[in-house]
Amino acid sequence: MDGPSGSGKSSVSRGVARALGLRYLDTGAMYRAMTWWMLRQGVDLDDPGAIGARCGEPLIVSGTDPDGPAIHVDGIDVAGPIRQAEITSAVSAVAAVPEVRARLVALQREIVGSGGIVVEGRDIGTVVCPGADVKIYLTASAEARAQRRSAELGDSTVRAQQEAMARRDTLDTTRKTDPLLMADGAVELDTTAMSLDEVIAEVLRLVAE
Ligand code: ADP
Ligand code: CDP
Repeated sequence: MDGPSGSGKSSVSRGVARALGLRYLDTGAMYRAMTWWMLRQGVDLDDPGAIGARCGEPLIVSGTDPDGPAIHVDGIDVAGPIRQAEITSAVSAVAAVPEVRARLVALQREIVGSGGIVVEGRDIGTVVCPGADVKIYLTASAEARAQRRSAELGDSTVRAQQEAMARRDTLDTTRKTDPLLMADGAVELDTTAMSLDEVIAEVLRLVAE
């Protein structure tokens, strides 16, 4: 499951995994965890060389339970801290560093193993799981995505949220290494006018096809 921020990847993936009794992996949480560690270490995030040189140091452990996705860095539970605005605004710069992607993609492939899992992110259909049985590219209008995120966080106006998301979308779609794009064989689902339950039902229908 790939798509931009607020398109519904996490909620839809968790719902689908629950319905099918599958595991669930939030790869965005791993990039957020790497960013949390870099900031804590005082690494200069304007220096891709410094990020690349140190990204092998943190031990990032990600759970796969759709009912309670867990994420730890060096044994510290970072599920809460990685959602803070400071991380959200810094993560795309860290995720653009090729060494970071190589390390996290290798970890993600290890977790995926022989399958039985719903994986969500930005490069799942293109890089992490190109052989996936079902590939979905979720979209929604910029307004709908900003409205959803702002309702969820309750701490910013829709307009501020839309600007922040547009900035991140640009970074994620224009980076040189593995930018966000629709994978070969992916089905695009525009969720702008759909409820969460409708999207989950549609994905389950595609899986059953
Ligand atoms: P993503 O993982 O793509 O950033 P999320 O799954 O976190 O998106 O969804 C962002 C917010 O929008 C959540 O609060 C979620 O409940 C809500 N949401 C997701 N899909 C829909 C939908 N189809 N209709 C309305 N709200 C949705
Ligand atoms: O929840 P939201 O969609 O806002 O973001 P996320 O899934 O937590 O991902 C955070 C950031 O990590 C994205 O903006 C990307 O920069 C990066 N990311 C990535 O590059 N590749 C992935 N497979 C997943 C996330």
